[in-house]
Amino acid sequence: MKGIVLAGGSGTRLFPLTLATSKQLLAIYDKPLVYYPLSVLMLADIRDIMIISSPGSLPALTDLFGDGSHLGLNLTYAAQPEPRGIAEAYLIGADHIGNDDSALILGDNLFHGHGFARLLRETRQDIGGCTLFGYPVSDPERYGIGEVDDAGNLVSLEEKPAAPRSDNAITGLYFYDSDVVEIARDLTPSDRGELEITDVNRVYLKNGRARLVRLGRGFTWLDAGTHESMLAASTYVQVLGKRQGVRVACLEEIALRMGFIDAEACHELGARMKNSDYGQYVMDMARRLT
Ligand code: G1P
Repeated sequence: MKGIVLAGGSGTRLFPLTLATSKQLLAIYDKPLVYYPLSVLMLADIRDIMIISSPGSLPALTDLFGDGSHLGLNLTYAAQPEPRGIAEAYLIGADHIGNDDSALILGDNLFHGHGFARLLRETRQDIGGCTLFGYPVSDPERYGIGEVDDAGNLVSLEEKPAAPRSDNAITGLYFYDSDVVEIARDLTPSDRGELEITDVNRVYLKNGRARLVRLGRGFTWLDAGTHESMLAASTYVQVLGKRQGVRVACLEEIALRMGFIDAEACHELGARMKNSDYGQYVMDMARRLT
């Protein structure tokens, strides 16, 4: 299975923060924003991952992660010159995907919850065409919305509806079978000139091949697209870390727990950052999980 992190866009909603730096490198408490979506793909046991971003952001992302081998990953990079929609990721990443199943995650989405890693691994075993994740929100007009019937089956999908039929937002994490590339190629741009991921999902829905997994109250889903939501996400990560002593999206710890790297390699990664709490945590995890 292949992965894509779509970390595109010019971050205009975050100006002036993003005038001279890219959104994906901004801090969510103790680590760059892009760590959070990458951690989700790693928890889904996906190691072959393409990071797609604006041309201006790619050098910094490459500096940050390189080829990913230190985390036991195989990372590649590609440019999305203009933000022409989420589904364009499957045109840019067509060769990377080949004939494999894939998971796509948006670069500003943060997921956290009990049993999430297990849920991800179960999902990849049985994608059923496409699997989407729903989450109740108080501002459904801002999102892709999925309406479900009494039996929990998906019956409609709409992108940012003015009059939402449900509060069930479709999160920025999508699992697809290998048909997705062809479906993306056949799309026509929406009124706002974008290749909409919701239109891809609608094709699967029409063919009776779209599944919805609802993330309940025990899950947290945040998107860090505005100043306020970035602060909320940072606070969430800080509070949880302080209270439980765990770090959300610590890539080195996840690589170790997933068996992508061994404890010695993990300790070495922590030692390079030993002056920060984060580095100390990584070294501590390496000792504990030996
Ligand atoms: C995108 C999708 C939307 C989805 C959301 C999740 O919207 O178009 O369907 O619900 O991501 O973060 P955007 O945030 O690009 O406006």
